[in-house]
Parts: sequence; C-alpha cells; structure tokens
Amino acid sequence: MEVKRARNAGFCFGVRRALEITLKAREEKEGPLYTLGPLIHNPQVVEFLASKGVKLAESLEEITEGTVIIRSHGVDPAVIREAEARGLTVIDATCPYVRRAQELACELAKQGYQVVVVGDRDHPEVKGILGWAGPQAVVVGSAEEVAGLPEAPAYGVVAQTTQPINRLQEVVHALLPRAKEVRVYNTICSAVASRIESALELAREVEVMVVVGGRSSANTRHLVERLQLSGVPTYHVETAAELRPEWFMGVSRAGLTAGASTPDWIIEEVEKRMREIGEMSAAEQMEAVGVKTFRGGEIVRGTVVEIN
Ligand code: F3S
Repeated sequence: MEVKRARNAGFCFGVRRALEITLKAREEKEGPLYTLGPLIHNPQVVEFLASKGVKLAESLEEITEGTVIIRSHGVDPAVIREAEARGLTVIDATCPYVRRAQELACELAKQGYQVVVVGDRDHPEVKGILGWAGPQAVVVGSAEEVAGLPEAPAYGVVAQTTQPINRLQEVVHALLPRAKEVRVYNTICSAVASRIESALELAREVEVMVVVGGRSSANTRHLVERLQLSGVPTYHVETAAELRPEWFMGVSRAGLTAGASTPDWIIEEVEKRMREIGEMSAAEQMEAVGVKTFRGGEIVRGTVVEIN
C-alpha cells in the first residue's frame, strides 16, 4: 500500500513557535514554569511538556510563583497585568497573526468604530481579542446574528484567525445595509485553509484518509468533517496505536494529514504504522483483526467464512 502525506499537514507556524518558546523557557528559567491553559490542543504534547516539568494551570489563581507562558491564542491584556501584579514572570507566545487581530481590534475601537469580531465567542482567542477591543466590542458567529447587533454609524470588523472566509464575507454583507461605513480587516490565517485544501486535493488520489490530531482540537475535527463530506472514508486518530488494519484491507493508496496542533513525531509514528499495515499480507491483516485463516483440520467450533 502506498501512503501519501498531504502537502500541508501538522503544526502551523504559531503553534510550532509557542512550543519552541516554551522549551527554551524550560531550559533558561529557574523555578516553576506554567502554561495558562493547554499550550496546544493535543494530549500527547501536553504529556510531553509535563515530562519536561512544564505545568498546566487553568487560571492565574493556581500559580503562586515562577513563570507563566501565554499560549498562541493570546489573552485579554488584563490577564497579563494581573500575572505581573502577582509577581509572575510572563512570557508571551501569542501567535503574531493573532496579535495583529488584537491590535487591529484595539485600533478600530480607539477610532470610534463599533468593533465586530467574527468567531466563536467561547474560543480563548476571541475572548482575548475582545479584551483588546474593549467592552463595546461584540462577537458574531454567523450572518443571522447581525440582526441583533447594536445600531452604529460605522462597524469595524476583524475575524478569529481560524474562521472560514465565507463566514466573514456573509457577516460583512449583512452589515453593509446597516451602517454608513464598514471597515473590514481580513485577519484569517491561511494555515487552516491550506491544510484543508491540500487534504481535499490528496483525498481525490486515495481510497482512504487518516487524520491525526487531538480530539479536542477544533481545526482537526473540522478537517475530518470536510474530508468525510468529500465522500472519502476518513478516520480520526490521536496516535498510531489507534490505527486498525481493517481500514486498509484491499486499499492500494492511503492518504495522511494532520491538524495544525499535531506534532511531527506523532505524524511520523502514524505514517510508519500505516506502512507496516500496508506491508502485511491479506492473511496477516485478517489475523490482526481477529479472523483466523482456515488451513483445514483446525476448526473445532466457531464460524467459517468462505472467501472466493
Ligand atoms: Fe497562528 Fe495561524 Fe497557527 S494564526 S497559531 S499560524 S493557525
């Protein structure tokens, strides 16, 4: 079986950078080191960091001393002020693309625009952008929600970096008849779209797709959904151990991709295991899924399946 990897798969720039910043901090900083929330939505990376002595705190209240890392999603600036007020050292690993969205939202608010953030209101990145934009800023998750927005002479729009572009376009269209001016900054990052695009491209060449990534990773789940909609059988795994030989029975070409929060080492392990499964004979694949091959004279009880 041939195993092909999508052109763009795995860690995006911002996530890779946040991990590098954290590992460097572990080497250089004395005392306890925390990330505020999981650095990456991937349990294996969180475990790896724990093994290096990087602790996970869900809130600043849990941290009494040491250094705190702000992850790539960024935070409300009030969180950084509070951490500093508590005497903590802050290392800010906010992705520069998220920082751009934060700064633009802040600038639009200063210039008097009604700031609209297109995104998921429960996502930490959106909460952070709102903190930069001030209390008047609002979040919309879809064009339908625009009807409930406050009236304003001018709207200033930014988007959560991982939003689909059509959602931003639909919201802007819905805003246009409501105000004299709508100023839009497209703050969507191309990393997620390019992973979807190259996965769909690969799906056209293969019989089955495997997506590697954390089950709590929204961009990984979205990748799985898009592939399933394209009609190709698609399986989501977190690790190589979850791969099942029966997914590849009779398959001559399999595709592999990974979400933006999946580290290279896990993708490589999955790829290696897929190749091993691909090299198994049909009988070995059957045995791996619990079907014994009948060689005559061996069966005392059980079910016999005739294979033509
Ligand atoms: Fe940054 Fe884009 Fe990744 S905004 S964290 S490079 S998805």
